Amino acid sequence: MVLHDTDDTTGQPTPARTGLENLLAEDRRFAPDPEFAAQANVHAEVYSWANADRLDFWADQARGLLDWATPFTQTLDWSGAPVARWFADGTLNAAYNAVDRHVAAGRGDRVALHFEGEPGDTRTLTYADLLREVSKAANALTELGVRTGDRVAIYLPLIPEAVIAMLACARIGAPHSVVFGGFSAQALHSRILDADARVVITADGGYRRGAPSALKSTVDEALAAGSGEIVRHVLVVRRTGQDVDWTEGRDLWWHDAVDGASDQHEAVAVEAEHPLFILYTSGTTGKPKGIFHTTGGYLTQAAWTHRNVFDLKPETDVYWCTADIGWITGHTYVVYGPLINGATQVIYEGTPDTPDRGRWWDIVQKYRVSILYTAPTAIRTCMKWGEELPSARDLSSLRVLGSVGEPINPEAWTWYRRVIGGDRTPVVDTWWQTETGAIMISPLPGVTAAKPGSAQVPLPGIAATVVDDDAQPVPDGAGGYLVLTEPWPAMLRGVWGDEQRFRDTYWSRFPGIYFAGDGAKKDDDGDIWLLGRVDDVMNVSGHRLSTTEIESALVAHPAVAEAAVVGAADDTTGQAVVAFVILRGDAQTDPETVGEDLRAHVAKLIGPIAKPRTVLVVPELPKTRSGKIMRRLLRDVAEHRQVGDATTLADASVMDLIQQGLATPSTD
Ligand code: PRX
Repeated sequence: MVLHDTDDTTGQPTPARTGLENLLAEDRRFAPDPEFAAQANVHAEVYSWANADRLDFWADQARGLLDWATPFTQTLDWSGAPVARWFADGTLNAAYNAVDRHVAAGRGDRVALHFEGEPGDTRTLTYADLLREVSKAANALTELGVRTGDRVAIYLPLIPEAVIAMLACARIGAPHSVVFGGFSAQALHSRILDADARVVITADGGYRRGAPSALKSTVDEALAAGSGEIVRHVLVVRRTGQDVDWTEGRDLWWHDAVDGASDQHEAVAVEAEHPLFILYTSGTTGKPKGIFHTTGGYLTQAAWTHRNVFDLKPETDVYWCTADIGWITGHTYVVYGPLINGATQVIYEGTPDTPDRGRWWDIVQKYRVSILYTAPTAIRTCMKWGEELPSARDLSSLRVLGSVGEPINPEAWTWYRRVIGGDRTPVVDTWWQTETGAIMISPLPGVTAAKPGSAQVPLPGIAATVVDDDAQPVPDGAGGYLVLTEPWPAMLRGVWGDEQRFRDTYWSRFPGIYFAGDGAKKDDDGDIWLLGRVDDVMNVSGHRLSTTEIESALVAHPAVAEAAVVGAADDTTGQAVVAFVILRGDAQTDPETVGEDLRAHVAKLIGPIAKPRTVLVVPELPKTRSGKIMRRLLRDVAEHRQVGDATTLADASVMDLIQQGLATPSTD
């Protein structure tokens, strides 16, 4: 069992929660409030229905939540496992479902988006506005030669055009590949190439931490790195007004191309299995994986989970998910889930501390936000800033709180419920992944009791369990690997252009079973506790980063001979990147600045999010006789623990050398 005593090949330590934490959780179970339960969208019967007939349950949701151009007659075809086909003989359009049908049903005046820019500018778009804008953008993209099936890269800040651009692609059946605006030119370049994107949609820049930050220049740099040969056009939204370089014939302003386009456009009905988007995520090797999702199954589960996990009442709720569209949470719970459900939502461009640390709570107060969905790292940061800031605002509109991205510690969970939720609101800790497309494990507010720190129970229609090394379910009270044993509608359909990698990564550890990469434990009630990754993937602020990818970036620096990266526990970000590097003998480096140089270098190659918190220059790395780096020992060092058993090292004195070497630069 690798969970408590990681071997040399597994990456993360997966610390079990202490008995005390479990006790705390037991003591603080929150039964559903009867009044809330009486009004809830779903009730306990939903589990028995889905348990009795999972496919009937999902087929019914697909019919009830979506409008189909051609109704489907088949629910699931699993004959091509592990590639599932859901609702495969039906056709539909994602943008039509997210926008047109609400307008057609007389809800055109409902606000779809309350946009709050970081400098304080605002825009409000109703569903009718959104329909016009998405239609114009779809016509503009068609004019630029984008056809059904072509890929479009999107590299934008969180402004309304980001949502409009994604929906415009969906409208013509062109899969979008959104690249997070914090990623570097190199990362953008490799994603454009991998998806073979012909058009890039970007902005001059966006506002972050009180200042404009450039995006167009990064696109220029990415295209100059080689992807310019395949990209025909760059469509540029004017957001900040900063200067940009311009390539005539290739670059176009969004306002020139879109504003004058016709606002009449017929959405293209595509097959349910038509790819809706590609989203790149870190894996255990250096190359990011293009996870791709298709249309009918993804939208069904996105809509069901958004409606029921948050108990959404579209007529009255104001929903806010703080994720950027560059991540899966932004795809499923900013764009597709809420809009399919006809929700009113807030989108905010900037950071929580601009102009001051009360910004988020100002936004909740201003828009009377009733459902808030955010990440544990943000909650812990707000905890550090103190409860005076939220307490000074009126947060009484909040009625459901959600958490996603990493395990939430019981202290942060209870703080969130008490200080932000005023001790009234259910808190849903939702477990899922880029690959699962939508929430898989979560309490259902009004239906299940909530337990601080535990994501708890698989949703109706989802088969998740914890197994041992031999794929046998573990008994209550024991730990193992989190797996999914039956296909689900929003599951990934593959890794773009690399089916073998899809099979190897997810389906080979336990044949026929999807292995999620996470360790988990069942408590004595059978509730699931997530324990973190068991592979070489780190989770920093709810974002997945690959150790190998950062190591490759480090060794690409002329001063570095070898590098090993581990994730070390961090109070705020969950895990932090710690890099151990061996410098080249001939390197002309200043020991005072090398750490900072390497941090900047990683930020340039991958993005600031991947910057090591700490760079430790060491004379050697601990390796086994077969040459594998023993990360477990490095993690002990990074987490300031006594170094564990080092007897399988090729050279047992290496750990002493490393520890002595720790006097050298660190940029903690
Ligand atoms: O390790 C789990 C963690 O985040 C991983 C998925 O990361 P990503 O694909 O970037 O998607 C993040 C947003 C869905 C998982 O393998 N994770 C996500 N949610 C939770 C979680 N760990 C514990 N509890 C959660 N609620």
